[in-house]
Amino acid sequence: MSNGSVFNLGNDQAYQEWRKAKLADYPQSLAGLIVEIQDPYALTANERDKIKDICDKTNMVVYAVKDPTKIKENPLPALLKQLGVNDVDHNLGASDIGLSKLSPGGSAHGPFANYIPYRQAQIGWHTDGYYNTNDRQVQTLSLYCERSAHEGGENELLDHEIAYILLRDENPEYIKTFMDPEVMTIPARMEGDKVARPDRTGPVFSVKGDHLHMRYTARTISISWKDTPEVKAANAALTKIMNGDSPYIIRGRLENGLGLISNNVLHTREAFSDLDEGPKRELYRLRCFDRVESP
Ligand SMILES: [Fe+2]
Repeated sequence: MSNGSVFNLGNDQAYQEWRKAKLADYPQSLAGLIVEIQDPYALTANERDKIKDICDKTNMVVYAVKDPTKIKENPLPALLKQLGVNDVDHNLGASDIGLSKLSPGGSAHGPFANYIPYRQAQIGWHTDGYYNTNDRQVQTLSLYCERSAHEGGENELLDHEIAYILLRDENPEYIKTFMDPEVMTIPARMEGDKVARPDRTGPVFSVKGDHLHMRYTARTISISWKDTPEVKAANAALTKIMNGDSPYIIRGRLENGLGLISNNVLHTREAFSDLDEGPKRELYRLRCFDRVESP
């Protein structure tokens, strides 16, 4: 992080100016994040600018394909390319072009079939890829809903820069604690007696270029927090924000033809269910290591 970064606790004046601009006219419902697009494979300049503007303000944007019945192939790769996002995360479980189908049976990697993204269960607050190495953190998290569930599947979204602001407003020590490069460890993942992925230790908040990144999961198993009173206090403060009634928490469900493009904001997923006989939820995800271009 550069000394001049607004996320540096030493720069209070620059931070206060940035904070004021960030919170001015901040959208507080899903409607404020939506951009309607005619053709996801060929965005108009106006659509592209709108997507970039909203993403720049809130770190997330919801696009709505005007006529989803015309969609011939998954629009995520083409859409992201037009926004300058190219460095696809070919995570395990994803298809050969990096798409993950977040539905039961959707994992392309056998051992992950029972992992929570591929089940119908509720998923608590997290950002994506917190088990990646620090230099391969997910910068862009994008989704496309081909068919919503019969019931449930709503998301809650919280801009991680807003989480940073709310924490820093309450006590700047929380930020210092969450920037500690040893604060959070995800223990190794084993496949049989082999280490499939070693321990991953890193900060919650980090800064890459001018941008804040957040690496977080609210899960309580398979996680090891640094054992200090400061970490407990920072975690309790964050939990209170996420589970409270902050107007900055945006709720909504991705319906057919809707999708999310985000700078990997905090999010949850409500449980969902489909009828035994009938179409199943089809939600696709693409993660990337680079970000939507600035406007
Ligand atoms: Fe996620």
